Amino acid sequence: MIPTAIITGASRGIGKAIAEEFASRGYNLALISRNYDEADLTALELLRDNDNDNDNEYVPFECDIQNSSEVRETFLQIKQKLGSIDVLVNNAGINLRKSFPSTSPQLWNQSFEDNLAGWKEELAVNLTGSYICSYLAAGYMLSRHSGSIINISSIKGQEPTTGAGYGASKAGMIKLTRDFAKVLAPEGIRVNCVAPGFIDTGMTAELSEEKKRNYRSMIPMQRFGRVEEVAKAVAFLASNDSSYITGATIDINGGYLML
Ligand code: NAI
Repeated sequence: MIPTAIITGASRGIGKAIAEEFASRGYNLALISRNYDEADLTALELLRDNDNDNDNEYVPFECDIQNSSEVRETFLQIKQKLGSIDVLVNNAGINLRKSFPSTSPQLWNQSFEDNLAGWKEELAVNLTGSYICSYLAAGYMLSRHSGSIINISSIKGQEPTTGAGYGASKAGMIKLTRDFAKVLAPEGIRVNCVAPGFIDTGMTAELSEEKKRNYRSMIPMQRFGRVEEVAKAVAFLASNDSSYITGATIDINGGYLML
């Protein structure tokens, strides 16, 4: 039977690259995005670019991962349409770039409401959304005693950052990885994480040229990563090649952080 992988945030950037890598490895794919048309476009591109001798299916879904009823309904449709849920990749994420301001008391106090709103939204999508998807996907995996869940965290969940909400949500994903991994391991379900550094995507395109130059000079490999380099690590964690790995976080950062 063809295995099914759910990829959240599959319409662009890292999520789309993961979808392309998984399609080349013969998975059926449930492509989740907040925007149906964008996910549909990814599905059409996958159909165009893959031989598809096995009639693999690439199915787009519009779903907001922070809304548990939407996720529950979407996963039910995925199970009914594609037959099983074997892999979940928690990739969807937002970075609102709500940073601690200058530490002048006036600016600090003025920005409180705005920063608090950003903190809540980033935690709701990145961390709570991953919790909801992992919990509900594991419900399907438990009855079959197999499955693999991969979380996309970030270097910003490991090093200090002025974007506290984004950083905390990504650090939380590393912790969540271990919590789910421990409880699900006896049931044959593995849960792992990757923590990318600076990767060329829409998210990093928002950085100023000066910031990008600055970051590049601090990376031992002296370049940003490519989305395909993240996708290959995720595919490894999804596959049986990583059959004795669970609860782990793989750094993909060109040597920027060596913990
Ligand atoms: P992106 O901004 O290009 O794409 C994000 C995707 O998530 C889109 O498909 C969007 O529709 C989806 N999404 C956002 N909120 C959603 C929600 N509530 N429900 C469903 N889908 C939602 O992002 P990018 O750069 O490809 O990043 C993907 C993941 O990798 C994110 O979790 C990000 O935090 C992480 N990451 C990215 C890095 C980078 O340098 N680009 C570095 C480290 C981690």
